[in-house]
Amino acid sequence: MTDTRKDVPLFTPIKSRGVTAKNRIVISPMQQYSAGNDGKPTSWHLSHLEKLAIGGAGIVFTEALAIEEQGRATHADLGIWNDAQVEALKPIAEAISRHGALAGAQLIHAGRKASVQVPWDGYQSLNAENAARGLAPWPTVAPSAIPANPGWQVPKALTIDEIRRLRDAYGIAARRAAQAGFQALNVHGAHGYLIHSFLSPLANHRTDEYGGDIQGRMRFPLEVAEAVRAEWPSNLPIFYRLSCIDDLDGGWTLDDTVVLSRELGARGIDVIDCSSRGLAERGTLSPGREPGFQVPFAERVRKDTGLSTMAVGLITKADFANDIVASDRADYVAIGRESLINPHWPLHAAVELGFDPDYQTWPQPYGWWLLRRDRAAARGR
Ligand SMILES: Cc1cc2nc3c(=O)[nH]c(=O)nc-3n(C[C@H](O)[C@H](O)[C@H](O)COP(=O)(O)O)c2cc1C
Repeated sequence: MTDTRKDVPLFTPIKSRGVTAKNRIVISPMQQYSAGNDGKPTSWHLSHLEKLAIGGAGIVFTEALAIEEQGRATHADLGIWNDAQVEALKPIAEAISRHGALAGAQLIHAGRKASVQVPWDGYQSLNAENAARGLAPWPTVAPSAIPANPGWQVPKALTIDEIRRLRDAYGIAARRAAQAGFQALNVHGAHGYLIHSFLSPLANHRTDEYGGDIQGRMRFPLEVAEAVRAEWPSNLPIFYRLSCIDDLDGGWTLDDTVVLSRELGARGIDVIDCSSRGLAERGTLSPGREPGFQVPFAERVRKDTGLSTMAVGLITKADFANDIVASDRADYVAIGRESLINPHWPLHAAVELGFDPDYQTWPQPYGWWLLRRDRAAARGR
């Protein structure tokens, strides 16, 4: 180790409950649409996630795992509603942990955005043509019978009994995630899926206790928080991903997010994962977004609630990521698509920011050579 090694906020370990992430870099959940219609991971998921753990992130989250079969978005999504899926997920959690990252699992019910084609097939509601190819649509559910987009399947409005059964299904899924060996949980409450559709006045027109004012619209998302906290080990953290704004007239606002985050914190949620949008077609990944466009949400929630936050969205530069943590705008920084370009993004950031000029944090079979290559290049100059 040389004495040029610097203290770098992005690489300061962070403890949440009983576990410590070695740095602030988190691999954001990313669906691979590569499961084989049984909701079980394939060798692709293992290679993909293990590679990202080798890349040096502090936490690697799986893609969204459906809490029940109808809660998948597509036929090719992963699930965690049966024991066979738990068994199949175990090697993934083990592989991520073996490379020094915390293994994280995300839970989802896709709600009214379920039963859709995979993106490269068009990302519309499944139809008769898909059914003829063995990809039959299935009925979707939501707080109210309002489709996510024009022409999409009209969801069935959930009864109160069905809402309570789904709340319990989140808890059971959290228990299964712990059985599979995951050490961090992420509840997907964003991007127009079931939880988000309860929160937004544009999707939730219920007149019972699960709708109406913000207290009613928050009821199901908060009950889910209680259900997962009750089943998930008390020494392990829970992240809760929110769409901090709908960015639609009459929709969910950042002020609403602050109110909800306080309530989530009171129910044992540890980190608010600050995403946005997705209730309708115009989603978080639509054109025109600036680097770090969601960082102000993480900053505001952190400042107003005192909770830990995660920033996500077009964070691609090491300097920028480090500055977000150094300036106390977020505790964690999630990297999504950039990790598809460069799965070793965290390892590179460590070298670039001077935290690890000698490749000491790299896997030895790589780092040993790269250090010598750098020295040889320096001698040659
Ligand atoms: C291929 C792909 C799949 C995604 N799947 C999920 C998912 O399963 N759960 C989720 O919360 N977000 C999902 N997202 C959103 C990402 O986690 C992330 O928030 C978004 O891509 C913005 O970050 P980035 O600009 O670093 O990619 C997905 C994004 C992509 C590109």
